[in-house]
Amino acid sequence: MPTKTEPDSFELRYPPLVLFGWGKRAALTDVLRGITANARVPGVLLVCTRSAARNPGLEFWRALCEGRVVAEHVGVPHDPPLETVDRLAAKARDHAAEAVVAVGGGSVLDVAKAAAVLATSNEGITAWFSGRWAPSRSGLPVVALPTTAGTGAEITRNAVLTDPERRIKRSVRAPFMIPQAAICDPELTVTMPPELTAASGLDALTQAIESYVSIRANTVTRALAAEAVKLLLNRLPAAFCNGADVGARTAVAKASLLSALSFSQSGLGAAHGLGHPIGALLSLPHGLTCGILLPHILDWNAPECGDRLEALAAESGHPSPTAFIARVRALVADVGLPPDFRELGLMRSHFPHIIANCRSGSMRANPRPMSDRDIEEFLTPLARI
Ligand SMILES: [Fe+2]
Repeated sequence: MPTKTEPDSFELRYPPLVLFGWGKRAALTDVLRGITANARVPGVLLVCTRSAARNPGLEFWRALCEGRVVAEHVGVPHDPPLETVDRLAAKARDHAAEAVVAVGGGSVLDVAKAAAVLATSNEGITAWFSGRWAPSRSGLPVVALPTTAGTGAEITRNAVLTDPERRIKRSVRAPFMIPQAAICDPELTVTMPPELTAASGLDALTQAIESYVSIRANTVTRALAAEAVKLLLNRLPAAFCNGADVGARTAVAKASLLSALSFSQSGLGAAHGLGHPIGALLSLPHGLTCGILLPHILDWNAPECGDRLEALAAESGHPSPTAFIARVRALVADVGLPPDFRELGLMRSHFPHIIANCRSGSMRANPRPMSDRDIEEFLTPLARI
């Protein structure tokens, strides 16, 4: 008999094409040909992070698009503001782009995915973000090439955006936001500095662990998440210490993909639920916020998901959930993150805003429910009161 936490049926939604491997970016031309009816490269809006515009360079990406780039946008701020999405959608419309190629970290990919949907509608992002409007059909096809190893945005059906005026960070989502193709080339991640390697890797680890214990997890997502956790615990320190380590970079990029293939179906948990408003308030990178919260959330969840944690601990070579959580805590410290948010400016006066803005799907997927009072108690030792 299936138990409450072991659904006997599930639905999986992924990009139609996922490519993984060292040097796979070279497949972009064929992938673009594959998404049009007549096998020609479509007119492309190229959205590129600054680092990938420098190395391998814009000319490199233009060549892979066979000269069919009709508009370009370089550089997207982290915690991308709403107006960047509107600007990109307008660019796509003005230049009659037929596809979007997004090269970058989670911010670039998310902005590109949202803009691709809006490019074929007359609505702006504010109406979508505020819930006054939702798209009802696909936008332009997106080919996503991640340059960090962590967010999973190349797989997911949502985009995390920020309203800077109201300091609100949340997702817009729609099933057809899933990219048409994800090309995951670990070589694109070798130029990440150590801090970004740490933050994005801890994001992937948080996603994988939260996915594993999510109340919406299933057999497939847990298998993917367990493999991601093993790879990250074993290889993230090497990728952090030596970015040129090809084996470590490949392992961490693969773990990031597996984590995304898992959490995109199962949902996340309270580290992500609380992490969004905390990150928006304190202007902290997403992965750093998740990494700091992760061991504390594991402690909080342990009484409600002991069996699951025991299984994950065993699968990743630990004798007990306690030993597993201690390993996670040590990894977070080893890559240079503080143990809490005291030095980063979290105060009790922030709690009402966090509580008012954390009730996302992630909180609902957490194995141990958190009341408003629970959140206050949970955050108190992590804050400067
Ligand atoms: Fe995340």
